[in-house]
Amino acid sequence: MVNVGFVGVGGIAHRHIRSLEQLGGNRIVAFCDTMPDRATAAADEHGGTAYTELERMLLTEELDAVFLCTPPFVHAEPIEAITARGIAIFSEKPPAFDLAQGRRALAAIGASGVVSNVGFMYRWMMS
Ligand SMILES: NC(=O)c1ccc[n+]([C@@H]2O[C@H](COP(=O)([O-])OP(=O)(O)OC[C@H]3O[C@@H](n4cnc5c(N)ncnc54)[C@H](O)[C@@H]3O)[C@@H](O)[C@H]2O)c1
Repeated sequence: MVNVGFVGVGGIAHRHIRSLEQLGGNRIVAFCDTMPDRATAAADEHGGTAYTELERMLLTEELDAVFLCTPPFVHAEPIEAITARGIAIFSEKPPAFDLAQGRRALAAIGASGVVSNVGFMYRWMMS
């Protein structure tokens, strides 16, 4: 059973939540969003705990994986915080807002050795 947390609980997060619920083998235990209503609504609907601060969620929960579904300009810092704890990460595209943030994210993922992936929507399409 994989314990999953979500950071950013907007439009695309709900698609991933539905997919995870269909897949099984996982338990979504935490939702973090700077808009408290979004985190609370997701926790009320799916179970788990609502947070407004990523650090608090990472300190409190025992997570195996995090889905990062924040806007593109909020990717590098969370990637660093999540991977520093050895937690696997699925980041929504784009993985970075600019080259500097991309290098930060790449360095953090490389140093941690965690499993990671980016949600490029055409990645798994058949030609
Ligand atoms: N792969 C795809 O098909 C696909 C489709 C749509 C969007 N996306 C990507 O997904 C990401 C999110 O898009 P969306 O449409 O869900 O946006 P959205 O605005 O609906 O949701 C983003 C959420 O992140 C929250 N947020 C912002 N800063 C935060 C922070 N520091 N900590 C916690 N939460 C924070 C916002 O409050 C909001 O609820 C973007 O990077 C976008 O490019 C991918």
